[in-house]
Amino acid sequence: MQKHIDRQKFPKKYVPYLSKYKLLKPINVNEKFSKFIKQWHPHQIAVVDDMQVLLAKLQGEFVWHDHPEIDEVFFVINGVLDIEFRDGKVTLESGEMFVIPKGVEHRPVAKNECKMMIKSSNHLGIFPTSRCDVSQWRVPLKTALRL
Ligand code: NI
Repeated sequence: MQKHIDRQKFPKKYVPYLSKYKLLKPINVNEKFSKFIKQWHPHQIAVVDDMQVLLAKLQGEFVWHDHPEIDEVFFVINGVLDIEFRDGKVTLESGEMFVIPKGVEHRPVAKNECKMMIKSSNHLGIFPTSRCDVSQWRVPLKTALRL
């Protein structure tokens, strides 16, 4: 027997979403990538709870750094990315992702241009780094480059 659900207790509430937030179509990642050329310059495409979703094009060696208070998610859309650690490295190919735990030193290296999706905490801005000066990557949420 089906359980009776008290609709008065749990009324269905209409919440506008597509129109309110102007999300009338899906976010096309390839289209977003076509809108910028500059490498090592993350662009915000969405905000999810307290995380921002960024796209970046990487090529060459970044600096050794860590993020003391946030985990970092790298998802390779196109290309190959090495993430070096002090005790080894992982190689990510298209369609692969990796979570770098907070506080672990790492260095991204891409021989050829690599297109990445990155998730990073909103609260601390983009890529707060404790052991390097990468001021352009420390962009507060409100001034993040929004595509
Ligand atoms: Ni990092």
